Amino acid sequence: MRRKLAAGNWKMNGTGASLDELTTLARAHPTPTSDILICPPATLIHSAVKVASDTAIHIGGQDCHADQKGAHTGDISAEMIKDAGATYVIVGHSERRQDHNEQNENVRAKARIAMDTGLTTIVCLGESLTEREAANTLDITGGQLSGSVPDAATGHNLVIAYEPIWAIGTGMVPSLGQIGEVHDFIRARLERRFGPGVGRSVRILYGGSVNPGNAADIFDVPNVDGALVGGASLKSADFSAIITALEASI
Ligand code: 13P
Repeated sequence: MRRKLAAGNWKMNGTGASLDELTTLARAHPTPTSDILICPPATLIHSAVKVASDTAIHIGGQDCHADQKGAHTGDISAEMIKDAGATYVIVGHSERRQDHNEQNENVRAKARIAMDTGLTTIVCLGESLTEREAANTLDITGGQLSGSVPDAATGHNLVIAYEPIWAIGTGMVPSLGQIGEVHDFIRARLERRFGPGVGRSVRILYGGSVNPGNAADIFDVPNVDGALVGGASLKSADFSAIITALEASI
């Protein structure tokens, strides 16, 4: 059985005061039956790890460089994220693909070094609205999956997040059928490439406007193993309700 994962991506939000949300969240879920992850901005990773120590909450980074060190002003490496005490990292988020022109090859190199460093790596995929309307969703997500996921992937070091770009921060969510179609497709592709053992053990998250009101329905969709949550992860009460919905779906 795949252990469910509720992951919060704070993006470029949060200062030291936001760590109170982490404390409240940890108190609300002392013994979770799912994995709970918060990915704060890089400036907060170290202090978030301290706040989350002795709690069930995991801490992750939002991106890493494909090299471990060197002349890359403003970037941080997988080793630095691990050294700060985090255990997960997100790579290939659509905002990075768009804002920083990251291509599949680059995302794959980042994922590879993150895995080599011992971080559980969340690789993000998802189509734009134009691509969905042109019925290219499976082509696009399939291409991102094969291009962005390294051969070193296992059920322990890889998590996939399907995040349709048009659903991120918009309040628009694909139908449950559309979510199911893409998750089933990703599962089949993973099984074909890595074999049934690994393919069935990789967790596939849905992301894009998940909130306390729609979470339960999304978590009932087969092959949805949790969520990658942006806006609704910033307030502990909302994220807590999403975690509760996830655990009720087990
Ligand atoms: P929202 O939940 O704010 O739509 O963001 C989703 C996301 O991009 C998580 O990585």
